[in-house]
Amino acid sequence: MRIVTRASELGGASGTRAVVMTMGALHEGHLALVRHAQSIAAEVLVTVFVNPLQFDDPGDLEHYPRTLEADAALLEEEGVDVLYAPALEDVYPGGTPIVTVSAGAINDVFEGAARPGHFDGVLTVVLKLMNLTRPDVAVFGAKDAQQVIAVRTMTRDLNVPVEIAVAPTVRDHDGLARSSRNVFLSATERDDALALSRALRAADAAADSGATVTEALLAGSEELARVPAAQVEYFAALDPSSAHPVPGDYRGEVVIAVAARVGKTRLIDNVSTRIGHSS
Ligand code: PAJ
Repeated sequence: MRIVTRASELGGASGTRAVVMTMGALHEGHLALVRHAQSIAAEVLVTVFVNPLQFDDPGDLEHYPRTLEADAALLEEEGVDVLYAPALEDVYPGGTPIVTVSAGAINDVFEGAARPGHFDGVLTVVLKLMNLTRPDVAVFGAKDAQQVIAVRTMTRDLNVPVEIAVAPTVRDHDGLARSSRNVFLSATERDDALALSRALRAADAAADSGATVTEALLAGSEELARVPAAQVEYFAALDPSSAHPVPGDYRGEVVIAVAARVGKTRLIDNVSTRIGHSS
Protein backbone atom coordinates (compact mmCIF):
# COMPACT_ATOMS: atom_id res chain seq x y z
CA MET A 1 0.00 0.00 0.00
CA ARG A 2 1.28 3.42 -0.96
CA ILE A 3 0.84 5.99 1.83
CA VAL A 4 0.54 9.53 0.53
CA THR A 5 0.32 12.67 2.66
CA ARG A 6 0.41 15.26 -0.14
CA ALA A 7 -2.19 15.53 -2.89
CA SER A 8 0.57 16.44 -5.35
CA GLU A 9 1.92 12.88 -4.93
CA LEU A 10 -1.38 11.08 -5.55
CA GLY A 11 -0.94 10.49 -9.28
CA GLY A 12 -3.54 8.96 -11.58
CA ALA A 13 -5.07 5.50 -11.36
CA SER A 14 -3.95 2.65 -13.61
CA GLY A 15 -7.53 1.40 -14.18
CA THR A 16 -10.87 2.32 -12.63
CA ARG A 17 -10.40 3.97 -9.25
CA ALA A 18 -12.80 3.73 -6.32
CA VAL A 19 -12.39 6.07 -3.38
CA VAL A 20 -13.57 5.41 0.16
CA MET A 21 -13.57 8.61 2.21
CA THR A 22 -13.25 8.30 5.98
CA MET A 23 -12.31 10.25 9.07
CA GLY A 24 -10.27 7.30 10.38
CA ALA A 25 -10.73 5.33 13.62
CA LEU A 26 -11.54 2.57 11.18
CA HIS A 27 -13.84 -0.33 12.03
CA GLU A 28 -15.69 -3.12 10.21
CA GLY A 29 -18.16 -0.61 8.72
CA HIS A 30 -15.35 1.19 6.90
CA LEU A 31 -13.72 -2.09 5.89
CA ALA A 32 -17.00 -3.27 4.31
CA LEU A 33 -16.88 -0.15 2.11
CA VAL A 34 -13.29 -1.02 1.16
CA ARG A 35 -14.32 -4.56 0.19
CA HIS A 36 -17.24 -3.23 -1.81
CA ALA A 37 -14.88 -0.80 -3.56
CA GLN A 38 -12.50 -3.67 -4.38
CA SER A 39 -15.37 -5.60 -5.97
CA ILE A 40 -16.20 -2.76 -8.39
CA ALA A 41 -12.86 -1.10 -9.24
CA ALA A 42 -9.29 -2.03 -10.16
CA GLU A 43 -7.71 0.39 -7.68
CA VAL A 44 -8.95 1.38 -4.23
CA LEU A 45 -7.87 4.62 -2.61
CA VAL A 46 -8.89 5.36 0.99
CA THR A 47 -8.76 8.85 2.46
CA VAL A 48 -8.35 9.43 6.20
CA PHE A 49 -8.98 13.04 7.11
CA VAL A 50 -10.80 14.51 10.10
CA ASN A 51 -12.51 17.42 8.38
CA PRO A 52 -12.87 20.39 10.76
CA LEU A 53 -15.37 22.07 8.44
CA GLN A 54 -18.10 19.52 9.22
CA PHE A 55 -17.91 19.70 13.04
CA ASP A 56 -20.44 22.06 14.57
CA ASP A 57 -19.12 21.27 18.06
CA PRO A 58 -15.43 22.12 18.72
CA GLY A 59 -15.32 19.61 21.61
CA ASP A 60 -16.45 16.83 19.26
CA LEU A 61 -13.66 17.73 16.81
CA GLU A 62 -11.05 17.85 19.56
CA HIS A 63 -12.03 14.46 21.01
CA TYR A 64 -12.68 12.66 17.70
CA PRO A 65 -10.61 9.43 17.86
CA ARG A 66 -7.40 9.56 15.79
CA THR A 67 -5.71 6.18 15.24
CA LEU A 68 -3.76 6.58 11.98
CA GLU A 69 -1.17 3.85 12.61
CA ALA A 70 -3.80 1.22 13.39
CA ASP A 71 -5.91 2.46 10.43
CA ALA A 72 -2.95 2.05 8.04
CA ALA A 73 -2.32 -1.49 9.32
CA LEU A 74 -5.97 -2.48 8.77
CA LEU A 75 -5.99 -1.03 5.26
CA GLU A 76 -2.71 -2.74 4.39
CA GLU A 77 -4.22 -6.04 5.54
CA GLU A 78 -7.27 -5.42 3.30
CA GLY A 79 -5.01 -4.95 0.29
CA VAL A 80 -5.86 -1.27 -0.25
CA ASP A 81 -3.72 0.31 -3.01
CA VAL A 82 -3.36 3.89 -1.79
CA LEU A 83 -3.94 5.61 1.55
CA TYR A 84 -4.22 9.39 1.36
CA ALA A 85 -3.81 10.76 4.90
CA PRO A 86 -3.19 14.47 4.48
CA ALA A 87 -2.42 17.14 7.06
CA LEU A 88 -4.93 19.98 7.42
CA GLU A 89 -2.73 22.30 5.30
CA ASP A 90 -2.76 19.91 2.35
CA VAL A 91 -6.55 19.97 2.09
CA TYR A 92 -7.04 23.60 3.15
CA PRO A 93 -3.79 25.34 2.11
CA GLY A 94 -5.39 28.78 2.33
CA GLY A 95 -7.12 28.08 5.66
CA THR A 96 -10.91 28.03 5.77
CA PRO A 97 -12.15 28.05 2.16
CA ILE A 98 -13.93 31.15 0.86
CA VAL A 99 -16.11 29.26 -1.63
CA THR A 100 -17.94 26.23 -0.25
CA VAL A 101 -20.72 23.85 -1.28
CA SER A 102 -24.20 24.37 0.17
CA ALA A 103 -26.43 21.39 0.90
CA GLY A 104 -29.46 23.68 0.47
CA ALA A 105 -32.74 22.38 1.88
CA ILE A 106 -30.99 19.23 3.16
CA ASN A 107 -29.65 21.50 5.91
CA ASP A 108 -33.18 22.17 7.17
CA VAL A 109 -33.99 18.68 8.41
CA PHE A 110 -32.76 16.01 10.86
CA GLU A 111 -28.91 15.86 10.91
CA GLY A 112 -28.82 19.14 8.97
CA ALA A 113 -31.01 20.94 11.49
CA ALA A 114 -29.32 19.31 14.50
CA ARG A 115 -25.80 20.17 13.26
CA PRO A 116 -25.73 23.60 11.57
CA GLY A 117 -23.13 23.74 8.80
CA HIS A 118 -22.45 20.00 8.97
CA PHE A 119 -23.57 19.02 5.47
CA ASP A 120 -22.01 22.10 3.85
CA GLY A 121 -18.73 20.99 5.46
CA VAL A 122 -19.22 17.38 4.35
CA LEU A 123 -20.06 18.29 0.76
CA THR A 124 -17.19 20.77 0.51
CA VAL A 125 -14.63 18.18 1.61
CA VAL A 126 -16.22 15.39 -0.45
CA LEU A 127 -16.03 17.52 -3.60
CA LYS A 128 -12.44 18.57 -2.79
CA LEU A 129 -11.40 14.96 -2.16
CA MET A 130 -13.07 13.91 -5.41
CA ASN A 131 -11.16 16.63 -7.27
CA LEU A 132 -7.89 15.63 -5.60
CA THR A 133 -8.24 11.86 -6.05
CA ARG A 134 -10.15 11.80 -9.38
CA PRO A 135 -12.10 8.56 -8.79
CA ASP A 136 -14.56 6.87 -11.15
CA VAL A 137 -16.68 5.84 -8.19
CA ALA A 138 -16.97 6.87 -4.54
CA VAL A 139 -18.36 4.43 -1.97
CA PHE A 140 -20.43 5.62 1.00
CA GLY A 141 -22.16 3.77 3.86
CA ALA A 142 -25.93 3.51 4.26
CA LYS A 143 -25.26 4.16 7.98
CA ASP A 144 -25.24 7.88 7.18
CA ALA A 145 -28.41 7.97 5.07
CA GLN A 146 -28.79 11.74 4.91
CA GLN A 147 -25.11 12.08 3.93
CA VAL A 148 -25.72 9.71 1.00
CA ILE A 149 -28.72 11.81 -0.08
CA ALA A 150 -26.64 15.01 0.19
CA VAL A 151 -23.74 13.55 -1.83
CA ARG A 152 -26.03 12.13 -4.53
CA THR A 153 -27.85 15.47 -4.79
CA MET A 154 -24.54 17.32 -5.12
CA THR A 155 -23.19 15.07 -7.88
CA ARG A 156 -26.52 15.37 -9.74
CA ASP A 157 -26.98 19.13 -9.31
CA LEU A 158 -23.34 20.06 -9.99
CA ASN A 159 -22.70 17.39 -12.67
CA VAL A 160 -19.81 15.87 -10.73
CA PRO A 161 -18.53 13.01 -12.93
CA VAL A 162 -18.24 10.45 -10.12
CA GLU A 163 -20.56 7.50 -9.64
CA ILE A 164 -21.91 7.03 -6.09
CA ALA A 165 -22.09 3.51 -4.66
CA VAL A 166 -23.66 2.65 -1.31
CA ALA A 167 -22.80 -0.28 0.98
CA PRO A 168 -25.13 -1.58 3.73
CA THR A 169 -24.75 -0.72 7.42
CA VAL A 170 -22.46 -3.05 9.35
CA ARG A 171 -23.70 -3.94 12.84
CA ASP A 172 -22.35 -5.74 15.88
CA HIS A 173 -23.92 -9.18 16.56
CA ASP A 174 -26.56 -7.57 18.80
CA GLY A 175 -27.62 -4.95 16.26
CA LEU A 176 -25.63 -1.88 17.34
CA ALA A 177 -24.45 -0.06 14.21
CA ARG A 178 -20.66 0.18 14.11
CA SER A 179 -19.45 3.73 14.64
CA SER A 180 -16.15 5.40 15.46
CA ARG A 181 -18.01 7.01 18.37
CA ASN A 182 -18.95 3.66 19.98
CA VAL A 183 -15.57 3.65 21.78
CA PHE A 184 -16.95 6.42 24.00
CA LEU A 185 -19.80 4.22 25.32
CA SER A 186 -19.52 2.59 28.77
CA ALA A 187 -20.88 -0.98 29.07
CA THR A 188 -24.21 0.34 30.44
CA GLU A 189 -24.45 3.02 27.76
CA ARG A 190 -23.76 0.43 25.10
CA ASP A 191 -26.73 -1.60 26.39
CA ASP A 192 -28.91 1.53 26.33
CA ALA A 193 -27.72 2.31 22.79
CA LEU A 194 -29.29 -0.95 21.59
CA ALA A 195 -32.67 0.80 21.89
CA LEU A 196 -31.92 2.55 18.56
CA SER A 197 -31.54 -0.59 16.45
CA ARG A 198 -34.41 -2.28 18.33
CA ALA A 199 -36.69 0.64 17.48
CA LEU A 200 -35.68 0.48 13.81
CA ARG A 201 -36.29 -3.27 13.69
CA ALA A 202 -39.72 -2.83 15.29
CA ALA A 203 -40.67 -0.11 12.79
CA ASP A 204 -39.36 -2.19 9.88
CA ALA A 205 -41.28 -5.28 11.05
CA ALA A 206 -44.47 -3.21 11.42
CA ALA A 207 -44.00 -1.82 7.90
CA ASP A 208 -43.49 -5.35 6.60
CA SER A 209 -46.82 -6.38 8.06
CA GLY A 210 -48.66 -3.51 6.42
CA ALA A 211 -48.41 -0.67 8.97
CA THR A 212 -48.75 2.98 7.92
CA VAL A 213 -45.87 5.42 8.54
CA THR A 214 -47.59 6.61 11.73
CA GLU A 215 -48.10 3.04 12.99
CA ALA A 216 -44.55 1.97 12.14
CA LEU A 217 -43.11 4.97 13.99
CA LEU A 218 -45.36 4.25 16.96
CA ALA A 219 -44.08 0.66 17.13
CA GLY A 220 -40.48 1.96 17.14
CA SER A 221 -41.24 4.71 19.66
CA GLU A 222 -42.45 2.12 22.13
CA GLU A 223 -38.99 0.48 22.06
CA LEU A 224 -37.28 3.85 22.54
CA ALA A 225 -39.59 4.76 25.43
CA ARG A 226 -38.43 1.64 27.33
CA VAL A 227 -34.93 3.15 27.60
CA PRO A 228 -35.16 6.69 29.01
CA ALA A 229 -31.35 6.86 29.10
CA ALA A 230 -31.44 7.09 25.31
CA GLN A 231 -32.44 10.74 24.83
CA VAL A 232 -34.09 10.79 21.44
CA GLU A 233 -33.54 13.83 19.19
CA TYR A 234 -35.64 12.53 16.32
CA PHE A 235 -37.26 9.31 15.14
CA ALA A 236 -38.86 9.83 11.76
CA ALA A 237 -39.56 8.57 8.26
CA LEU A 238 -37.63 10.38 5.52
CA ASP A 239 -38.13 10.59 1.78
CA PRO A 240 -35.05 8.74 0.40
CA SER A 241 -34.46 11.32 -2.32
CA SER A 242 -34.91 14.59 -0.40
CA ALA A 243 -34.35 13.58 3.25
CA HIS A 244 -37.51 15.51 4.13
CA PRO A 245 -40.12 13.90 6.41
CA VAL A 246 -42.93 12.00 4.69
CA PRO A 247 -46.60 12.42 5.73
CA GLY A 248 -48.22 9.80 7.97
CA ASP A 249 -50.25 8.35 5.09
CA TYR A 250 -47.29 8.11 2.65
CA ARG A 251 -46.80 4.89 0.68
CA GLY A 252 -43.51 3.82 -0.87
CA GLU A 253 -39.82 3.62 0.05
CA VAL A 254 -38.77 5.44 3.22
CA VAL A 255 -35.72 5.70 5.42
CA ILE A 256 -36.62 5.42 9.08
CA ALA A 257 -33.95 7.36 10.93
CA VAL A 258 -33.11 7.92 14.57
CA ALA A 259 -30.72 10.15 16.49
CA ALA A 260 -30.24 9.92 20.24
CA ARG A 261 -27.79 10.90 22.90
CA VAL A 262 -26.64 8.14 25.22
CA GLY A 263 -24.64 9.78 27.99
CA LYS A 264 -22.44 12.27 26.17
CA THR A 265 -22.35 10.30 22.92
CA ARG A 266 -24.64 11.20 20.04
CA LEU A 267 -25.59 8.20 17.89
CA ILE A 268 -27.49 7.89 14.61
CA ASP A 269 -28.90 4.88 12.82
CA ASN A 270 -31.48 4.11 10.11
CA VAL A 271 -33.21 1.41 8.14
CA SER A 272 -34.68 1.48 4.63
CA THR A 273 -38.14 0.02 4.36
CA ARG A 274 -41.30 0.10 2.28
CA ILE A 275 -44.65 1.40 3.48
CA GLY A 276 -47.73 -0.11 1.87
CA HIS A 277 -45.90 -3.39 1.39
CA SER A 278 -48.96 -5.47 0.62
CA SER A 279 -50.02 -3.28 -2.35
P1 PAJ B 1 -16.83 8.46 8.69
O1 PAJ B 1 -17.81 8.70 9.79
O2 PAJ B 1 -15.43 8.02 9.03
O3 PAJ B 1 -17.46 7.40 7.71
C1 PAJ B 1 -16.80 7.07 6.52
C2 PAJ B 1 -17.72 6.21 5.69
O4 PAJ B 1 -17.97 4.99 6.38
C3 PAJ B 1 -19.10 6.88 5.45
O5 PAJ B 1 -19.52 6.63 4.11
C4 PAJ B 1 -19.99 6.15 6.45
O6 PAJ B 1 -21.36 6.11 6.07
C5 PAJ B 1 -19.37 4.75 6.44
N1 PAJ B 1 -19.72 3.99 7.65
C6 PAJ B 1 -19.51 4.36 8.94
N2 PAJ B 1 -20.02 3.41 9.77
C7 PAJ B 1 -20.54 2.45 8.99
C8 PAJ B 1 -21.24 1.21 9.24
N3 PAJ B 1 -21.47 0.78 10.47
N4 PAJ B 1 -21.64 0.48 8.19
C9 PAJ B 1 -21.42 0.91 6.90
N5 PAJ B 1 -20.78 2.05 6.60
C10 PAJ B 1 -20.36 2.82 7.62
O7 PAJ B 1 -18.79 9.92 6.96
C11 PAJ B 1 -17.70 10.43 7.16
O8 PAJ B 1 -16.67 9.79 7.80
C12 PAJ B 1 -17.36 11.84 6.66
O9 PAJ B 1 -18.52 12.64 6.68
C13 PAJ B 1 -16.71 11.87 5.25
C14 PAJ B 1 -17.66 11.32 4.18
C15 PAJ B 1 -15.40 11.08 5.25
C16 PAJ B 1 -16.38 13.34 4.88
O10 PAJ B 1 -15.51 13.91 5.79
